[in-house]
Amino acid sequence: MKQPMRVLVTAGPTREFIDPVRFISNLSTGNMGYALAKTAAKRGHKTVLVSGPVNIIPKKNIKIIKVNSCGDMFKAVKQHFDNSDCLVMAAAVSDFRPRQVGAHKLKKDKVLADGKINLVQNPDILLWAGRHKKAKVLAGFCMETQNLLKQARRKLKTKNADIIAANKISRHNPAFGSKPTTIYIVDKAGNTEKIGPKSKDKIASILLDKIETLWYKKSISAAW
Ligand code: CTP
Repeated sequence: MKQPMRVLVTAGPTREFIDPVRFISNLSTGNMGYALAKTAAKRGHKTVLVSGPVNIIPKKNIKIIKVNSCGDMFKAVKQHFDNSDCLVMAAAVSDFRPRQVGAHKLKKDKVLADGKINLVQNPDILLWAGRHKKAKVLAGFCMETQNLLKQARRKLKTKNADIIAANKISRHNPAFGSKPTTIYIVDKAGNTEKIGPKSKDKIASILLDKIETLWYKKSISAAW
């Protein structure tokens, strides 16, 4: 193995609570992020996994930080960001949260009479990381039902990521769960690579190869 890296990965959904029993969330099993963390740790990289609520038991050689909301995830990422060589945002972060969280369970009659939940925008963690990354490698994900590659390239650019792994949600491509899936990796050089259908472990391994290559290139050029 080459020089070990300090890898920071996020996984799973976030939960944005409406009241103590209800929340807004995104569909995510956490499998991709956990596969990435497992593969990184197996390769000898010092691995920190910030995980939303999922049903996966992490490997012992991974430092795990369990979070619920986007706000919690953002805080944990900020805490570990400076001590990382790369950040992989595999989490399905909720883009919005209720403006107010009820201290007590809201009564349905009142909620339905109101007919709406007031939402505010959550911070974009990858966007923040892109603005503060210096020599770090940043990888993001992009799940879409349409215009997959166009959206992936837009996110690569606006979030200043090094690579985006794009996954199409359709009947023909099981993007969620443990079945093999197809992804496209887009990078800053304008390359697009189709991978799959392959297991998430295999995809994690290919993504990590790319991240390692990018990081070694960056660290060599920084040394000169
Ligand atoms: N992401 C993030 N913080 C958010 C939302 C998303 O860090 N608040 C990260 C995701 O972890 C992913 C990437 O940004 O790596 C793209 O997420 P996605 O939800 O596909 O994109 P959005 O920027 O939310 O764009 P849109 O809603 O327009 O699809």
